Amino acid sequence: KEYVVAILGATGAVGHRMIEQLAASSIPVKEVKLLASARSAGTQLKFRDQTLTVEETTPDSFEGVDLVLSSAGGSTSKKFLPEAVKRGAVCVDNTSAYRMEPDVPLVVPEVNPDTLAQHHGIVANPNCSTIQMVVALEPIRRAFGLKQIIVSTYQAASGAGQSALNEFYQQARDYLDGKEMQANILPTKGDKKHYPLAFNLLPQIDVLEDSGYSHEEWKMIHETKKIMVGDMNSPEIKVTATCVRVPVPISHGESVYFEVEDKSATVEQIRELLAQAPGVVVQDDIQHQIYPQPINAVGKGDTFVGRLRPDYENKGAFNMWIVADNLLKGAALNTVQNAEELVKRGLI
Ligand code: A2P
Repeated sequence: KEYVVAILGATGAVGHRMIEQLAASSIPVKEVKLLASARSAGTQLKFRDQTLTVEETTPDSFEGVDLVLSSAGGSTSKKFLPEAVKRGAVCVDNTSAYRMEPDVPLVVPEVNPDTLAQHHGIVANPNCSTIQMVVALEPIRRAFGLKQIIVSTYQAASGAGQSALNEFYQQARDYLDGKEMQANILPTKGDKKHYPLAFNLLPQIDVLEDSGYSHEEWKMIHETKKIMVGDMNSPEIKVTATCVRVPVPISHGESVYFEVEDKSATVEQIRELLAQAPGVVVQDDIQHQIYPQPINAVGKGDTFVGRLRPDYENKGAFNMWIVADNLLKGAALNTVQNAEELVKRGLI
């Protein structure tokens, strides 16, 4: 079978990469429809050697569509994905709109691909920061059990979308030209105040909640539990997070402290496990100053891990540093990998 695929949000930072990743995937594609808002209808984009015209999204855009890859914001997903499902499509959604719905699988193919079979038309792609963390921690969890994760993120500007990335570049130019930096988007479109990211750090990603946590931190906690344990509130793995936006265009870094159940686990065993793990590349050679860096991860589909070391005062606990391209493994690539799995398993 060949599939009619719609990309919702095709003109965005993630959408562009969805087009590329779909082109490179094993999914047999009959036709591609590029969808966005009225603002960019008429824009021409390439899929393989075809030039396609972006259309304004309406419910009828999904007529005859088998598969939807979407990354056009949560409210756009809420508005259009039920329409797509009604018309018989299966949707892989990169927004947070449906991630916590009990009947929506939240999937990282290296971790919980079997949950795809439970879908009712929508599969959710996790948050970018969650994806790279669980890809690196899952092999460790399977071998030694996981008790606790304490993570601090160093997240790239592009995670907030193409317009945030453009704003960040302009701020950097203005700062170096001695002009005042303008901020209208970051830390998050949905909040009242805006601050420059260039030459700065913003300890707010998404909105701040009454609990004191940002919504991004909430997502990392609950998505990790849902993906690894199957229950967003599971006490089985303790997770806490601090999420920070850093002046880097693409690729998120994460400092992860984790404690395993099996106290006999060694750094050497963990490094070996990670070296064999799907989707993981170990870059950990302190003699030669080898460790993951955002600039080296851009454009790559892997999750890079390094700086692995034990906590000498807490046996069974370790520190490591994880980097991945937030727009690829963190978004477009994981979405397309989920779609590939759906096709392989006959679930579309
Ligand atoms: P558009 O180019 O028409 O604004 P990013 O995450 O990089 O900001 O990209 C967001 C994507 O979502 C863009 O492709 C954008 O299209 C699309 N989008 C935003 N709002 C809507 C909407 N109401 N309907 C359809 N697509 C939308």
